[in-house]
Amino acid sequence: MKKIWNTSLSIKDVGREVTLYGWVSKKRNLGGLIFIDLRDRSGIIQLVLRPENEYYGLAESIKNEYVLKCSGKVFERESKNIALKTGDIEIEVSEMTILNTSKEIPFELKDDTTALEDLRLKYRYLDLRRNPIKEKIIIRSKIMNIIRNFLNDEGFIEVETPILCKSTPEGARDYLVPSRIFNGKFYALPQSPQIFKQLLMVGGIEKYYQIAKCFRDEDLRADRQPEFTQVDMEMSFVDEEDVRSITEKLIAKVFKEIKGQDISLPLETMPYDDAIKYYGSDKPDLRFGMNLNELKSIFNNTNIEFLKDSPYIDAIVVKNAADKYSRKDIDKLTDFVKTYKASGLIFLKYDHELTGSIAGKMSEEEKSNLISNLSLENNDLVLIISGEKNIVKTSLGALRCKLAKDLNLYEEDYHLLWVVDFPTFEWSEEENRFVACHHPFTSPKDSDVDKLLKDKENCYSKAYDIVINGYEAGGGSIRIHDAEVQKKMFEALELTPEDIITKFGFFNEALSYGTPPHGGLALGLDRLVMLLTNTDNIRDVIAFPKTASANDLMSDCPNEVSNTQLKELHLKIDK
Ligand code: AMO
Repeated sequence: MKKIWNTSLSIKDVGREVTLYGWVSKKRNLGGLIFIDLRDRSGIIQLVLRPENEYYGLAESIKNEYVLKCSGKVFERESKNIALKTGDIEIEVSEMTILNTSKEIPFELKDDTTALEDLRLKYRYLDLRRNPIKEKIIIRSKIMNIIRNFLNDEGFIEVETPILCKSTPEGARDYLVPSRIFNGKFYALPQSPQIFKQLLMVGGIEKYYQIAKCFRDEDLRADRQPEFTQVDMEMSFVDEEDVRSITEKLIAKVFKEIKGQDISLPLETMPYDDAIKYYGSDKPDLRFGMNLNELKSIFNNTNIEFLKDSPYIDAIVVKNAADKYSRKDIDKLTDFVKTYKASGLIFLKYDHELTGSIAGKMSEEEKSNLISNLSLENNDLVLIISGEKNIVKTSLGALRCKLAKDLNLYEEDYHLLWVVDFPTFEWSEEENRFVACHHPFTSPKDSDVDKLLKDKENCYSKAYDIVINGYEAGGGSIRIHDAEVQKKMFEALELTPEDIITKFGFFNEALSYGTPPHGGLALGLDRLVMLLTNTDNIRDVIAFPKTASANDLMSDCPNEVSNTQLKELHLKIDK
């Protein structure tokens, strides 16, 4: 068995005889001397062979990515390489075996590769040999270890829950698995272990966690995968603060151990309504300011036609940036906000006076109110969107984040907060009904239970999300533990009585056998690793990820199956 990692060797080992195993990262033949960079998981070490060495001929034949076993003595290098951890030393090879050869690789395995991601995904096992990917996978493993140790020490036990589950309505689209034995019936892959973890509380487990695989057939984005991993937790006899407190301690421990960074606790909390009002998002990025300002009152009596009927007129101020944005740049920003359905983007520049798109049409009063309201200083750029609340908030919120990225306005590396007091329901245009904002097991605020059926718009719940740098890193809630309230909730979601019985009957029954008050949360492990490894691509932190269209390019999956398999599953493909 291999006993020594390349980078465990240092100047202290000079004179030591070692046997190393690894891949040829690079070979240089300096006409008289052959240098080989031998790579293992830990990093690179230099091997040297001189012409008199009996393995010199063999070394000449070696190509990149060949697998070697080499023995030799550690020497201090004449010319050191400070860029390498082992740059002080090299190994004078005394014995060398080629354990395997390699075909020519389809892309160069260097850290700053220009190879297209699709090619790298097709040969993911080669991409894993590159430091930027390998290091993230190693950090992921460390994070999982810290999490397990922390939760075990806190008295949680890890319980696995089923992967073949019952399909239930609500939430994202299910991945379905047809049953061979039961013609026409299906299992669903779990979107999360939500129901099972609540049943574990009914089962008296009291403190549960699981590093759980979840599956959702939804539109993918840079921070979403069809299968992803949650750190799933549930606790009995807790309130909202208890769950938040244990979670933030866990996160702080991970930040300390991985980044050496102290997170000051308790984290701030921001009500959902404020997050939307001031940041246009339920996951506000607070690494920078530039909050949204509601200007409707300034334009109450305006003569500007298209602003007259706008229920919302919101602005952001980009400080000291007016000179950085040409008309063409503003047009690009306009195109950007249009992707969020905004009808347009108003811009104003301030330099002792206001200029820009609507400046000529604004009254003096509107101008002076706007200047004082937004505390404008010379060279400030004001960007305004008007229209329906949802569109104004979402598009300006997204623009705020884009500008911060473009202009690198971040004032800190990480900003963590809790967004709390979520509405219980949100209106779904698609389904033309109220759907659960979190999920249907979330408890309404004690004072709002009566609003479940009567006043859905104003019903708030005991739900919380942990937000880091504009990402929803986790979310959870205190659950409904009363079977009657749960039934009301299903009714509020307009599930038919039959649906309630067939889909959730077993769950409602469980709630009626002494269910303790309980609550929990799930962290998105992939997103947490992304944040801690400074990437905005979720595929970078998953060993074998899928593309944005849910393909595995390496194994070419999903794929067609044989007619025999289809027949066994009682399926016919409608082409
Ligand atoms: P939720 O749906 O908010 O809650 O998911 C919890 C966390 O999982 C992460 N996440 C994802 N990560 C990658 N790809 C995806 N497609 C994806 N979807 C979600 C996010 C999110 O915050 N059962 C509840 C939790 C609870 O109430 O305890 C749940 O699944 O970081």
